[in-house]
Amino acid sequence: MNHALPTGRKLYEKIREEFLGLNTQYSVATGEKTRRIYLDSTATTLMMKVVHDVMEDFYHHYANTHSFLHFGARIATREYDWAHQKILSFMNADPDKYTCFFTGSGTTAGMNRLARVLRDIRSDRSVAIVSIMEHHSNDLPHRKHMKEVDHIPLKSTNGTLGCICLDSLKEILKKHQENVNYVAVTGVSNVTGIVNPINEAAAIAHEYGALFIVDGAQLAAHVPIKMSVPDNPAQDIDALVFSGHKTYVPGSPGVVIARKDLLQQIEPEEVGGGMVEDVFIDRYVVKDSFPDREEAGTPNIPGAVGLAAAVDVLDRIGMEFLWDEEKRLIDSALDRLMEIEDVVLYGETDHDLCDRVASISFNMKGMDHGLVAAVLNDYFNIAVRNECFCAHPYVKEMIMDDLLDFVETVGIEDIEHVYQLKRGMVRASFAVYSRESDVNALIKAVKDISARKDYYRSQYEVSSSDEYVHNSFRLDHAESFSVQETVSTLVS
Ligand SMILES: Cc1ncc(COP(=O)(O)O)c(C=O)c1O
Repeated sequence: MNHALPTGRKLYEKIREEFLGLNTQYSVATGEKTRRIYLDSTATTLMMKVVHDVMEDFYHHYANTHSFLHFGARIATREYDWAHQKILSFMNADPDKYTCFFTGSGTTAGMNRLARVLRDIRSDRSVAIVSIMEHHSNDLPHRKHMKEVDHIPLKSTNGTLGCICLDSLKEILKKHQENVNYVAVTGVSNVTGIVNPINEAAAIAHEYGALFIVDGAQLAAHVPIKMSVPDNPAQDIDALVFSGHKTYVPGSPGVVIARKDLLQQIEPEEVGGGMVEDVFIDRYVVKDSFPDREEAGTPNIPGAVGLAAAVDVLDRIGMEFLWDEEKRLIDSALDRLMEIEDVVLYGETDHDLCDRVASISFNMKGMDHGLVAAVLNDYFNIAVRNECFCAHPYVKEMIMDDLLDFVETVGIEDIEHVYQLKRGMVRASFAVYSRESDVNALIKAVKDISARKDYYRSQYEVSSSDEYVHNSFRLDHAESFSVQETVSTLVS
């Protein structure tokens, strides 16, 4: 690398200024036009400007990687190959042992694919183990494709849930003995941002002959990852999946990084052009080479190249540095939210017991999560997410205590009904472009909501689809964005 180029903090300060969407303005319910504060990065991240510019340049050379010969095809093929290598090195995955391939639109496609592959190559082992904190994308594929799924409980300190409990993992592995095919755990919860000890968990799974796969959707952009651990190979991760759209590149694909020796054992899950050496009328010969054999059809070439560019920037800054910066921001947000009497925070908040990044979920006493999220958006231009974040069992487990308050009034038999009505939280989530000023805005807004609950309640009605709709204020689509309007302007 050219040492004159910025790295570390200098590069960090430069790129975090420039994300597309940081300066977007909307009119709010008070009539003012203000800058949006984007606290929904766990759902999807904003786009890195460097990546946008790289992709714009790339489009001038854009061609199909299956075309080989002409200049554009050669450039596209070289850069697409580089994208695979870059992602392997970002993941500290030994390229002799692992391959990386792009698939579908996110983690979900990759996780389904892995579940099917592992079911088929280890058909004598029919159990998958996941944790109770998983996103549905790292739970339902295993329920669908494996015979049985068992859930690892979480460590609990005075009733507050932390990361996965490694002792319980051992117990479950012992219980199912030789039957466990694999353990699949998220690196970071998309609800609480709690970080799991994935390499330690991998070593335990391996002790019992199980494979260990990681849902890296919330990990890749936030925490350094070691798929290969040369001084302790028992801690190696066998496969990891993540989403490009959560790694600063909207429109980029999902990524699977997996041990080649596992994939090699069966014909690739998907077949078509690009993955075959030769095709005869009565048979076909699959390529030996990775990643080609795993990528049937024309891939999302610009998305993959853009993702590798984003990862290159993160690498130049340094993931350890980014992790420290984000932990500092999250700790500050947690500490300040905790000081507000009305706020109920979910998951372990003691930094000595577990690390957290990216996401914080909370409720405000006496206010539905839907109402809080609507007020944050409509009055404060703060974009958050609410409800259960595709992690129903985890959210349910954490709000049980809140629900118990209702038992006295509705009785235990109606608690499931109350849960359907009340389930959910508000999630504020952060990424590399998030700043202390965003936390300041959130805290100020939450304090205001807490002080004026009746006023805000009076401004909304609940629609037939259970959404909080403001009595008079609506987003002005014409003022903000419309594809047709933009096309009209551009072609005129
Ligand atoms: C932890 C986790 N896993 C999996 C997913 C699914 O990712 P995608 O929608 O990109 O497939 C998400 C999305 O929010 C997530 O947060």
